Amino acid sequence: MSTNPGNPLNKIRIGVIFGGRSGEHEVSLMSARSVMAALDAEKYEVVPIGISKEGRWMTGDAMTALTEGHGNAFPAALLPDPQRASLMEVKVSESQPVALTAVAELDVIFPVMHGPYGEDGTMQGLLELAGLPYVGAGVVGSAVGMDKAMFKYVMEANGIPVLPWQLHLSSTWENQPETVLNEIEDGLPYPVFVKPANLGSSVGISKCSDRQGLEDALNEAASYDRRMVVEKGVKARELEVAVLGNDVPAASVVGEVRPRRDFYDYVAKYVSDDSELIIPAELEPEVSNEVRQLAVQAYQAIDCAGLGRVDLLMDTDTGRLYLNEINTIPGFTRISMYPKLWEASGLSYSKLLDQLVDLALERNHTKARLRVSFEPSDT
Ligand SMILES: Nc1ncnc2c1ncn2[C@@H]1O[C@H](COP(=O)(O)OP(=O)(O)O)[C@@H](O)[C@H]1O
Ligand SMILES: [Mg+2]
Repeated sequence: MSTNPGNPLNKIRIGVIFGGRSGEHEVSLMSARSVMAALDAEKYEVVPIGISKEGRWMTGDAMTALTEGHGNAFPAALLPDPQRASLMEVKVSESQPVALTAVAELDVIFPVMHGPYGEDGTMQGLLELAGLPYVGAGVVGSAVGMDKAMFKYVMEANGIPVLPWQLHLSSTWENQPETVLNEIEDGLPYPVFVKPANLGSSVGISKCSDRQGLEDALNEAASYDRRMVVEKGVKARELEVAVLGNDVPAASVVGEVRPRRDFYDYVAKYVSDDSELIIPAELEPEVSNEVRQLAVQAYQAIDCAGLGRVDLLMDTDTGRLYLNEINTIPGFTRISMYPKLWEASGLSYSKLLDQLVDLALERNHTKARLRVSFEPSDT
């Protein structure tokens, strides 16, 4: 609970961070709007923290400022110094920062940020340096959840099934295209999916069925990232599980996404928005249990914490299950899969938020008990 002198009601002061330098900026605004509206006003004092697409931090009415381009917001910053980890107002004169004034001491942060610079460990690194408790996975869990190649290595090391795949550098593709094409065609049957290693929202992802398509797909993915993942494409059902918890995570019922397009691409996710969400997915009880078990294993394998939406593919020809990815800060509007899966499992949207805050505080508490220095004894 807050010990802020300016907070006599002893509410938990929660900084909700949204927006950011990511293709999922707008999705983050939608998620954060839902989160801020649903946080119980009896328990929480919400401090909105917006980040523009250029990376500028602001507080005050940051949501209006980011949505409508105007609004009563002012420049803000969080310092990586735990002794000064308040939200600071930045006074600016002739576009230069000239003074910092503490405006709010924060008890916990909810980074409602999707994609790069929010969900990938970079924001989490800043919050670690600042010594602030925050909702969701730490630096490693976030980074591994975001990086499709590292994610697959970690799954393989833990005996969790993933589809056959290869990693290629964009620079190798540029310098030795024949070698890359041959290696892919020797190792993987068409169709294959080509993905930038470190993005989300299906941006830069293509499905290809021949060499020409593969070349185009590699050019496209290479324009987004230094590293590319190429994997065997299967006809699959897309199953999703909401996982919640720190060391002892719980799994929700299983949900299924049925995109109306060829695959769950950017248009299916955000433009046509007509994909069907089926909760719970129609599965035999033992299959559903296996899916939930795999989801928890994968969550633990990447050291996820707080929350994660675990996405699996079920090959429709063989019935085999494959781990596809974990989103460590999944879409969080009231109609998003993650909260809906919990609602179907008996946990309401605002109770889910309470649990996430509790988990963030618990994690910080556990960490605070750890030794930070080593004193060699003389004996
Ligand atoms: N190997 C695959 N086989 C079949 N479909 C795939 C495969 N990989 C990705 N997809 C399709 O592409 C979508 C986006 O891929 P995904 O790896 O989940 O990337 P993102 O992180 O952008 O969501 C998936 O939801 C699925 O529809
Ligand atoms: Mg996905």
